[in-house]
Amino acid sequence: MKRNLLSVLDIRDELGDIIDLAIIMKGESKDGMENIAFRGKSLAMIFEKPSLRTRVSFEVGFTQMGGTAIYLSPNEIQVGKRESVYDVAKVMSRFVDMIMYRAFDHRNVHELAKHADIPVINGLDDMEHPCQAVADFMTMTEVKGKLKGKTLAWIGDGNNVLHSLALGAAILGMNLRAAVPDGYDPDAVIMKKAKDIAEENGCTSEVFRTPEEAVTGADVIYSDTWISMGDEGEKEQRLRDFEGYQINSDLMKKANDGCIFMHCLPAHRGEEVTDEVMDSSVSVVFQEAENRMHAQKAIMIRIAGLR
Ligand code: CP
Ligand code: NVA
Repeated sequence: MKRNLLSVLDIRDELGDIIDLAIIMKGESKDGMENIAFRGKSLAMIFEKPSLRTRVSFEVGFTQMGGTAIYLSPNEIQVGKRESVYDVAKVMSRFVDMIMYRAFDHRNVHELAKHADIPVINGLDDMEHPCQAVADFMTMTEVKGKLKGKTLAWIGDGNNVLHSLALGAAILGMNLRAAVPDGYDPDAVIMKKAKDIAEENGCTSEVFRTPEEAVTGADVIYSDTWISMGDEGEKEQRLRDFEGYQINSDLMKKANDGCIFMHCLPAHRGEEVTDEVMDSSVSVVFQEAENRMHAQKAIMIRIAGLR
């Protein structure tokens, strides 16, 4: 049976194993060990939105493992517009061995995965960003050690990245404390699922209205843009609505000693985070960005059933 990674829930029972594998593979790669698990294989990377990290990390990662990665820009396939999602899935399945898809609409990602005969990996859609979450929990593990019982604070929009982090935190036994302004709540169905899993795993998943409440007891403070790709038309309104949600040194001081700062990037310095925090010694944002590649290599190996 071919596997997909559309949601963190698709790897619910093996998230910890994938993080461990990613850390092992990172070490192997740093030691110069060759891994050519995808020699002769091809990965199609379909992008409907811009990207730095996802594009470069998937392309370099797959190439390092001996394969060929093909970048398809927003102007090329136009999934569901130039031709149907079904036809794209069937044609792609004849050419390549795996698809990474960054889309506006998660329904297209799910439909592509349903009809493709090859694995489909979600490279960000309007509901989730699972590869980001795996890299993030990998980074937290490297820096903070065992994650069970630790607390992750999210400050900002109730968006795709929060959804994946909330699910992942619950699965790994981390407490999640999200601060989100009124009107920007995360998806109720996903958050209910996260809460249920958290209860099973003896941790909490809560949403607050003030950053101060969310960072109480936090070991990690996480931020993302207030204006996700596709939300640009709401920029002025959002800048007003997110006032007070900036992560600055004063807010960092209210968290636990040793609290680290994370951001999926791209960051909008001076909006959701100050330069002072981004460039501080507790900021792990570039280690986090690097880990996208190691995490995705482990994800691809795992989804392909190779390790
Ligand atoms: N964090 C992230 O996915 O970055 P890109 O949008 O640059 O891929
Ligand atoms: N929430 C952001 C994440 C970017 C990596 C967006 O969807 O644009």
